[in-house]
This record gives sequence, C-alpha cells and structure tokens, in this order.
Amino acid sequence: MPVIDVPRVSAPLLRAAGVAKNFGPVTALRRADLVVHRGEVVCLAGENGSGKSTLARIVAGSIRPDGGAVELDGTPVAFGGPKDALAAGLCLVSQEPTLVPGLSVAENVLLPRLNRPARTVRRTALAAEAEPYLAGAGLRVDPLRPAGSLPPGERELVEVAKALAAEPRLLILDEVTTRLPDPERLFAVVERLAAAGTGVIVITHRLREIRRVCDRATVLRDGATVAELGRDELTDERLSSAMVGRDLGEYFHKRPVPVGGERLSVEDLVTDRSPHAISFDVRAGEILGVAGLVGAGRSELLETIAGARRPRGGSVAIDGERLERASPRAARRAGMALVPEDRFGQALAAAHSIRDNLAVPWLRALRRTNRHRDHDRATRAVTDYRVRCHGVDVPVGTLSGGNAQKLVLARALGHAPKVLLLDEPTRGVDIGARSDIYELIGELAAGGAAVVLASSDLLELLGLADRVIVLAEGRPAGELHRDEATEEAIALLALGGGERDDAV
Ligand SMILES: Nc1ncnc2c1ncn2[C@@H]1O[C@H](COP(=O)(O)OP(=O)(O)OP(=O)(O)O)[C@@H](O)[C@H]1O
Ligand SMILES: [Mg+2]
Repeated sequence: MPVIDVPRVSAPLLRAAGVAKNFGPVTALRRADLVVHRGEVVCLAGENGSGKSTLARIVAGSIRPDGGAVELDGTPVAFGGPKDALAAGLCLVSQEPTLVPGLSVAENVLLPRLNRPARTVRRTALAAEAEPYLAGAGLRVDPLRPAGSLPPGERELVEVAKALAAEPRLLILDEVTTRLPDPERLFAVVERLAAAGTGVIVITHRLREIRRVCDRATVLRDGATVAELGRDELTDERLSSAMVGRDLGEYFHKRPVPVGGERLSVEDLVTDRSPHAISFDVRAGEILGVAGLVGAGRSELLETIAGARRPRGGSVAIDGERLERASPRAARRAGMALVPEDRFGQALAAAHSIRDNLAVPWLRALRRTNRHRDHDRATRAVTDYRVRCHGVDVPVGTLSGGNAQKLVLARALGHAPKVLLLDEPTRGVDIGARSDIYELIGELAAGGAAVVLASSDLLELLGLADRVIVLAEGRPAGELHRDEATEEAIALLALGGGERDDAV
C-alpha cells in the first residue's frame, strides 16, 4: 500500500498500521493499514467478513489488537476500553444496535456523558440538552419517548445523535445507511462534520454511497489492506475488483419469467399500525416491490401477511385458499417464508450454532433432530451463500453482519416457498454475494414463487421488481409498473405526491 507522505507537523489524525486480530482460531485481521486525515471522509470497503467492523472496533477501543500500531496525531495509543477512546475523541456507530430501549431518546443520546444517574437529572433539562444533537442527526422526535418505541430507521438516527453528542474528532459509521431510506440526511451531517475538521470513516456496501460522500477508499480483503483508491478511482469496476479480486459485471440480470396465476392475494388487510386497508395480488413468478420511507409501514405489512402480527381486518390467501388463522406457523405451513428486517431479534439465535439455526423450522415440524442431516444442510448453505465462517458449529453471533444476513436468506429460500416475503434482504450483504442472492430470488420466481420485496435500496427494487407499490404513512400511495418505476416517481409517491418534505 502506498504510504501517504506527510510532514511530521501534520501527522494524520489516525494511522493504523499492520493491525492484526485473532478470535481463537479465526483470523479477522492479518495486516490492516488505514490512514485518516482531519476533515477527510474515508471509506473502509471490503467483502463480508473481510475485517472492517473488527478494525473499526479496535480503533474505537472496544477490542484490543493482537499486533500492529494505532496512532492518533502521531502518538501511539492503546485504549483500555471504549470510554478511553471516546475521551480521545474516537466514536463508533456500530452495525448492531446499542440503544437501551427502556431509556428515553434523550437519555440514550447523552448516556456516554451522564456521570450521575439519570433520575437525579431533570428530564426536561436532559431533553433540551439532547435536542441539538437530534436536530444535527436530522431527527425530529420527542426526546422523552422511550427509544424502544421508535421504528428501526429512527433508532439508527438516535445512534447517530448519540455519536454527535460525544463531539468526536473521528467518527466511524459502520453500515449506518442500511437502516435509513433517506441517507442524504446523514451525508449532510457527514459533510458538515468534515468541513469542521472531523475525520469520518464510512463503512458501506453501496458503491454509489461511497462515490457520493467519500474522498477516498481503503479496501480490505481477508483481513489485509489491499488497495487505496483516490476519489477519481471510486468506480464500480475499480471498487468491486479491489474487494472481490474479480470483475463482477452486471448485478441485475432480471430474467424474463412467464407469469402464472394468482398466488398470493391480500384483501383489505389492516395492520395493527395503521387504519388503512391494503389490497394486492402477486402472481406466480412475479416480484412485487414495496417502497416507502421509514415508518411507512413496509415491515408491518410483511409481518402481518406472514402472521407475525395480528391483522385488524382483511384476509390473506395462497392459491385461493384463505389462511384461517394469523400465526407464523399457519403461514409457514401454507408455504410462506419471511425474511424479517431485524435479523437477530426475529430470525437468528445468536448464541446457537449455524447448524442449529438452519435446522430450526425442521426441528419444529418433525420434533426430532438428525445431526448428520443438519450438518450437511448447513454445510451446503454455507457453501452456496459463501458464508465466511470457521465451520458450521460456531455461534451465529460471531459472524460478521453480512454473513449472518446470508444465513437468514439461506434458511428462508431453502424451503422452496410458494410465497417469499423479503424485508431488506441484502442489508449489509457485500456486492459479490448480492448478485448471487439476486440470482437465487430470480430462480425462485422462475420456479413459480410469488415474491414480495420490501427494500430501501431503490436500485435493488428497480432492478428486480415487476411492479412496485409505494406506501406512505401506512396507506397505499400508488403502484408503478416496471417500465414507469423510476427513483423520482417512487420518491414522489413516498412523500405523498411531493406535498410533504418533512418525513425522515
Ligand atoms: N467475536 C468474534 N468471535 C469469532 N469470530 C469473530 C468475532 N468477531 C468477528 N469474527 C470473525 O472475524 C471476521 C471478520 O469479521 P468482521 O465483522 O470484521 O467483518 P466485516 O468486514 O465487518 O464484514 P460485514 O461486511 O459482513 O459486516 C469474520 O470471519 C468473523 O466471523
Ligand atoms: Mg461489519
């Protein structure tokens, strides 16, 4: 890697050199190098499991490296924990949630600097203190609300506000935009911070976000820094070949699929979150996209169809047969599979092995296990989905974010469902695995499945969906056919015909 030659007087804000880290038998980092100057926005890129989050956690003091050096302003540092790093001005917004659901938004935002118990501080004073940081993160919510009552996208912005409250000199954002349908607001925050001299490290798998906001990119592969790309080198081709080590070509090969009869029909369905009834049909072979902003009701809709939420009215039928009971089990038996948005909350048991996690539906159905069969199934899934892991017996909680997501998909797609409900299916999944997953979704559709795809990644929706329905505040705001669906048309409907611009 070319070393950036800077005079001693202006040592970089951060220099990590030759950083190594093992977790037992797993080598997460072999030789990672990363330099960030003041006011610079640097992308840390790489495939799932390449070591990005591990490096971020080392820099932010939450884990210690086994080797290498980390320097701040030219001085070597060795943090005892995140508090030390925070005190030195290094702050990480991590890939997995950290908010305390029972505490208010304001308490969460100010948590790292609350020296005394929150109850001795006046709640209104706390709210006023948190307000500017919430505004800075582009979030308008009542600071006294419990953080757990917010939808995921808004919780993510509270995480950003919490980081801003630490007034960091170096901010690390680990896949923060995946939970934000409107990443522009975050980019505005990043630009403001950088203009004021803060260094920012952005970790994202979305190539156009890299181009949008980063000054350059450092690419990790298998735990080592393999490339350093300048601003004018941040093309899809350069980035993907540096990350994957091969050319990927086109992502979206939407194959023409003959569309069959009505497979899924949703009639006047009313979720427990909104008074509006929603009706649509999806035919065999068809992929229906569901778009909308945070809080528009996409996840609630999918969860209600899959029986995970009780509807207030309406019905769901598969192949003309109405599901009599709203329960996940009844839906599964009728041939439905849901890939939920919240992978650890709803889909995976973090402490259990890959093998057991993949076996769960069979366990329930047959009430017995067959370790050989489970082992084979897990091994196949791990190969097919390119899950980077140290065997199928490791706990799912030790996998990198994108690899955990691949398992959720492997389990849902592995059943050959008649109806597949996907909620942000490629969140955190790297570009190489993403194109494989699009292929697999296409294959299922070609085999006659009806697919419902909710995604905040508009390129993904436009690339895969035959039709897109757009939700705005829980009600259907419109439907667009493939040839009329553009980013602008979707955004206009999502904002309620363009009249409102205050939705986050
Ligand atoms: N606590 C842990 N115990 C065991 N292995 C771990 C642990 N944390 C990370 N790993 C392993 O280290 C490797 C690097 O993981 P890391 O989370 O840094 O990847 P990443 O680049 O952030 O990937 P992603 O894009 O999927 O988030 C992976 O193989 C992962 O399974
Ligand atoms: Mg990660």
